[in-house]
Amino acid sequence: MAPKTAIKTIVLTLLAGSGNIWADGREEAAREVEAAIHLTPDPENGRKVFMVCAVCHRPEGWASPDGMYPQIAGQQTSVLIKQLADIRARNRDNPTMRPFTSPRLLGGAQEIADVAAYISQLPMNPSNVVGPGFDLELGRQLYKDECAECHGENGEGDSKDHIPLIQGQNYNYLIRQFEWIRSGKRRNADQKMVKQIQRFTPREEFAVLDYVSRIRPPQEKLADPGWQNPDFPDFARHPWPPLQPSQMIR
Ligand code: HEC
Ligand code: HEC
Repeated sequence: MAPKTAIKTIVLTLLAGSGNIWADGREEAAREVEAAIHLTPDPENGRKVFMVCAVCHRPEGWASPDGMYPQIAGQQTSVLIKQLADIRARNRDNPTMRPFTSPRLLGGAQEIADVAAYISQLPMNPSNVVGPGFDLELGRQLYKDECAECHGENGEGDSKDHIPLIQGQNYNYLIRQFEWIRSGKRRNADQKMVKQIQRFTPREEFAVLDYVSRIRPPQEKLADPGWQNPDFPDFARHPWPPLQPSQMIR
């Protein structure tokens, strides 16, 4: 075989191989999502499954101030199911959390449905970390024109299409996900959204995400200030590290 042909063969084989690995991950995740969505969830078992998640996400499921951990409380059930299945199948990279999604710790489609049902009914943080707040009119306009058609008028998401609730999410987490979705680092992103946000300037990005972080979830979804999840009375809650000024304003 001529060297050029050999190289071409190797490159083609590698490309075909990596394509298959991803395709397998996607199919596996899609099958698990389909199964979990149609099962009847048992939130009481979900509470037990959530014990392992609470180590990082805390019993309340609220974001850490620096946005390392997202707020998952109150999220759409179908979104929680899809993200769990995608992380487990390596369709969304999350090396910190992935070991805890192994079937031995998390279980199968039924446990995914159970824990998702438990998390989605947790009340949300009434005082999440928001952006600096100086470009909100631009943010509001951009949100209305570029995001609302999918994420809903108030960032409530859409369970039917696995579209995440983003209202009241931590500002720093929103920035990281937006940038990972735009750059392709978050592989399970919605391709239409990826296209939609390509031409956002930094000013536009920070303005729209600041606005999103400030959309107040409806009162019935919010916890009372200082609420602690009574299902985990013995959990030792150490204070999060204080937020550095550089993490507050971008
Ligand atoms: C070792 C720490 C750790 C554990 C344990 C853990 N997670 Fe996570 N989880 C994370 C981190 C970090 C992220 C954010 C990853 C990123 O930025 O993409 C995350 C993200 C998520 C997301 C995606 C949220 C979003 O808005 O896209 C969901 C859903 C989730 N976790 C649910 C769970 C559940 C359910 C469990 C228990 C079965 C669990 N996690 C256990 C660290 C953890
Ligand atoms: C065409 C529909 C669509 C549009 C338009 C869109 N998104 Fe999304 N977005 C999605 C879907 C679907 C996901 C979840 C993808 C997945 O399955 O992981 C998502 C995920 C996200 C996430 C990650 C949420 C999380 O908890 O992990 C953020 C943040 C986000 N979108 C913000 C925005 C903003 C801000 C805009 C407008 C500038 C926007 N999106 C426009 C469909 C859309």
